[in-house]
Amino acid sequence: MRYTIRKPEERNGRRWFSPGIRTKLLGFLLPLVFLLVVSVAVAASKITEAAIRHDLLRRGVAVSRVVAFSAGYSFLSGDRLAMDSLASETKNSSPDIDYVAIRDMNDVVVAHSRISERGKAYTPPDRTARIEDFSETNADEVSREGRGLIEFTTPILFAGKRVGTASLALTKESMLSVQRAIRRMIVLAASVILGIALLGTLALSSFITTPVKKLSDGVYELAGGQTFHPIPAGGSDELGDLTRNFNRMAETILAQQDRLGKYAKELEEAYVGMVRVIAASIDARDPYTLGHSTRVARISCELGRRLGFPEVEIEHLEKACLFHDVGKIRTPDDILLKKQSLTHPEYAEMRSHPIDGAEILRMAPSLHRYVPVVRAHHEWYDGQGYPDGKQDAEIPIHAQIISLADAYDAMTTTRPYRKGFSPEEAVEEILRFRGTQFSPMLTDVFVRMIREMPSLETEEWEGMAL
Ligand SMILES: [Fe+2]
Repeated sequence: MRYTIRKPEERNGRRWFSPGIRTKLLGFLLPLVFLLVVSVAVAASKITEAAIRHDLLRRGVAVSRVVAFSAGYSFLSGDRLAMDSLASETKNSSPDIDYVAIRDMNDVVVAHSRISERGKAYTPPDRTARIEDFSETNADEVSREGRGLIEFTTPILFAGKRVGTASLALTKESMLSVQRAIRRMIVLAASVILGIALLGTLALSSFITTPVKKLSDGVYELAGGQTFHPIPAGGSDELGDLTRNFNRMAETILAQQDRLGKYAKELEEAYVGMVRVIAASIDARDPYTLGHSTRVARISCELGRRLGFPEVEIEHLEKACLFHDVGKIRTPDDILLKKQSLTHPEYAEMRSHPIDGAEILRMAPSLHRYVPVVRAHHEWYDGQGYPDGKQDAEIPIHAQIISLADAYDAMTTTRPYRKGFSPEEAVEEILRFRGTQFSPMLTDVFVRMIREMPSLETEEWEGMAL
């Protein structure tokens, strides 16, 4: 199974579809903390409000009973002034007491914290809802003149006999304002806790994602064959162990890569040496073609450089040149070395060497890249060549270059039956086949190259760099 190692930036680009650790932590922890904090805040608010309400009721009951108890003696003595004073002073003792009323058994107000109410019949509240019974005292939630009050009603007793009723009303506003203040404090505390939770989650995610991101960068660097920089491993926790183990693994991989690289280089050198030996042995079968493949390689590589080929392509071109006539290894000596004209079958046998060469190279997978070039090095630009009649762009550029260099070297080499052409004569001959056998563009560059050389003597090529 093959895995594709994505760049860290590519991962970021897919964040919406594949959320990162930071997003997952935020998405999981923050709602959890939010629910927890809100639940605690609501519970605390409810408990506090109940406590405040309970405290208010207890206080109201206590004050109401004190008023009722004190009023009992005043009823006995008929001291209305004392009852007025009791109502007035009780009212002034706390800002949340709205009124204090003392009434007789006929519900006539005998004393009231508001003087205007004195002597009038007791006015029942607009609305009443019983809150709680505290033994003798009743606590009711009432509404008077649009104001919400808690009214405490306690019977006034004297010698076990009821003589009147004491009413005391507390405003709910003081309780509500305290509740609001506490609620604000709870909301503030919850916000601070949520803020701390957010920062904590970010710090936690950063603590986890930073080493993971560094590891991811390291893997990408290692996989890309770039220079690997050991990742700093902070801490002695699991992430620190993971980072240290990753660094050790990377060092092992790099050391093995280095060894493999050396083996590959040695193998490559051995392979190139083998190629040179094969090419030399083919050329050596005919004393007049000795060094032919090497000269073709030199000329071709110089032309390749002029065409702007990168160095790695020049190396491939050189090897293709050394291999181009490897198929002649199958050509019998009596045909290859024949000084007279070839018969038609012999000529056909001779023309089979590009196909033979391609078949030989196809046997070794590492040489497959040269198969199309070797097979096509006798094709013509106009399609009149052999073995496949390919033309123009169908012919690999390396094969077209070899075709030019091959022809030039063949013409400038002296044979027993003819003297070799001078370079200029060879150039003139090549120009005659511009557009038929050779590509016009390549011919122009080739001719310019030959004419620009310091000397056209074949020996001068020996000095040219390969
Ligand atoms: Fe050839």
